[in-house]
Amino acid sequence: MAIILGIESSCDDTSASICIDGIIASNVVANQLVHQKYGGVVPELASRVHQQNIIPTVQEAIAQAKIHKNDVDAVAFTRGPGLLGSLLVGTSFAKAFALANGLPLIEVNHMQAHILAHFIDDEKPAFPFLCLTVSGGHTQIVLVRDYFDMEIIGQTTDDAAGEAFDKTAKILGLPYPGGPLIDKYAREGHPHAFKFPEPQVPGLDFSFSGLKTSIMYFVRDKVKADPDFLNKNMNDICASVQNRIITILLNKLKKAALETNINRIAIAGGVSANSGLRSALNDAAMELNWKVFVPQFQYCTDNAGMIAIAGYYKYLKQDFVGQDVAPLARMHF
Ligand code: KG4
Ligand code: ZN
Repeated sequence: MAIILGIESSCDDTSASICIDGIIASNVVANQLVHQKYGGVVPELASRVHQQNIIPTVQEAIAQAKIHKNDVDAVAFTRGPGLLGSLLVGTSFAKAFALANGLPLIEVNHMQAHILAHFIDDEKPAFPFLCLTVSGGHTQIVLVRDYFDMEIIGQTTDDAAGEAFDKTAKILGLPYPGGPLIDKYAREGHPHAFKFPEPQVPGLDFSFSGLKTSIMYFVRDKVKADPDFLNKNMNDICASVQNRIITILLNKLKKAALETNINRIAIAGGVSANSGLRSALNDAAMELNWKVFVPQFQYCTDNAGMIAIAGYYKYLKQDFVGQDVAPLARMHF
């Protein structure tokens, strides 16, 4: 039997999970509400709140899994990429827990873990598959050949898709994180009410910064003509922006599927919680004969379940790191 404790602290969520023989027995996430009024994560505040949350979060994960801390066989933690001060809290905790209990340490790449979240559910994708990983910090199309054999074949050249949602929310006066709120308003709006440009980026890469600028000027001009414009049109604006972000993502994903001749398509990362993206993906699946994989909602946004499952697959290979390991703000596959 292998019991893995997974720790995630790369951004603004403190999370701990217990994985028992490849099954997630608990996944506890402590969200940080302190960032809402700032329109984005404040790194200094994030690391401080991680420091406060980490011990109770781990205790809760152990309790919910109905195990004792002495039952844990290995500690897996997010080494990167992420905010350095945030990563330091999880990394230091994992090292201390492993040292105190004489356990091996397993480093996990956060972006690989988002993809490996697909191996939590019963229906696991067969290799090779394509994964569109869309989060607050990343937008990537990844060719996944094996658990830890992944190649980024397309990525954003500027902002991430989640950032496009969050920055749009900020322009519209909505709190951080903006994605879930835009998703909610978009459900009541018309996706073609307003037209925003689709950037022309070669290959499988993405760009979202032009979209953000065009939304900024659009709102500025409309509000100048009618100060109540935002209130009156919030649903339609959200639906139109969301529709544009989704078409940008899907057009590149379709291109990637065609070029690689792969029809097993997965989505991962916080933005994969978006209901519009999920339904657009299902439409594409019908049209193009794709087999689509979408993680459970709780494993889309940042969570330690994905770290624990990635840790489990590394544990099977006995792929451990030493106590001298340090976090990496930038970490490649
Ligand atoms: O993967 P994640 O939890 O953290 C990072 O590693 O970045 O992703 C967070 C991002 C935020 O930008 C948030 O606005 C976005 O995911 N997000 C959504 C939705 N839920 C979260 N974006 C669109 N629609 C959603 N329902
Ligand atoms: Zn993430």
